[in-house]
Amino acid sequence: MALINLRRLLDHAAENAYGVPAFNVNNLEQIQAIMEAAEQTSSPVILQASAGARKYAGEAFLRKMVEAAVEAYPRIPIVLHQDHGASPAACVQSIRSGFTSVMMDGSLREDAKTPADYAYNVDVTRRVVDMAHAVGVSVEGELGCLGSLESGLAGEEDGVGAEGALSHDQLLTDPAQAADFVASTGVDALAIAIGTSHGAYKFTRQPSGDILAIDRIQAIHRRIPDTHLVMHGSSSVPQEWLAILREFGGEIRETYGVPVEEIQEGIRHGVRKVNIDTDIRLVMTAAMRRAMAQDRAEFDPRKILRAAKDAARALCALRFEAFGAAGMAERVG
Ligand code: G3H
Ligand code: 13P
Ligand code: ZN
Repeated sequence: MALINLRRLLDHAAENAYGVPAFNVNNLEQIQAIMEAAEQTSSPVILQASAGARKYAGEAFLRKMVEAAVEAYPRIPIVLHQDHGASPAACVQSIRSGFTSVMMDGSLREDAKTPADYAYNVDVTRRVVDMAHAVGVSVEGELGCLGSLESGLAGEEDGVGAEGALSHDQLLTDPAQAADFVASTGVDALAIAIGTSHGAYKFTRQPSGDILAIDRIQAIHRRIPDTHLVMHGSSSVPQEWLAILREFGGEIRETYGVPVEEIQEGIRHGVRKVNIDTDIRLVMTAAMRRAMAQDRAEFDPRKILRAAKDAARALCALRFEAFGAAGMAERVG
């Protein structure tokens, strides 16, 4: 199957009440792990690349590795999505590179740090929608800033994300404004702010409703039932993998992610795309630390990377199953 766009996949997900994990990719092993899990569970896939991924791997390598995935897994529908585009120019570059979906993150200014005002967000997002739709590419927008309801701080990660303190209003997407935003821009999917943030340090305790506002998803969905909602910062930060990371020398403070059951609750209320990056990074690094510690004589990086890939594949398979995407690959029209 050739690449498909995000709209087509999320329309199918909405019709069949499931969610699709969108996994960030940077290298060969991550792409292979995700594709192996998709094949094993017969799931459609969203592979997404950030500006950081393009810097790490290079545009040509990313493009060719995804082409290889399409060729190697002909029965799996694949969306190639640009994560957190900081400007219309960045989105155009990805469209030219062959991405079938782009995120215009106009919740932040082009520096990817300063929260933008609403008028700016509408303006840049609508411009991207006009260009992208002309060539069949889907667009995700974002309204509200990712950050912690616990600390009131924005969620900067690897140079991307707002900096400093944010108001409660900025940290939670307003349903009425979301309706206006979708009508004004024509986006295919909308990323919302509900208290999640990027990276491993999301919550200092197992999150409850006061710091992870799952009920806000219901309010937004009631207002715009036909819009596909996107949850960013949706890694679950599995405690069992944190334990392995620590056991083999990793240093990571006590921390909690977004429980899978909360994501499932979101999927029951219109969430169709669930962004996951940190979990893959965590399990791969934990598996590599363990593999290297358990066989200190091993110097073939393929053995170490195999362990990382196996761990990532198992994690991705669990998410495909939990979000209801398993078994859907052949049914996406
Ligand atoms: O959007 C956030 C993702 O975790 C991307 O992270 O910029 O380090 O690739 P990255
Ligand atoms: P995590 O850091 O929780 O994996 O979130 C990734 C993300 O939202 C990418 O856009
Ligand atoms: Zn994100």
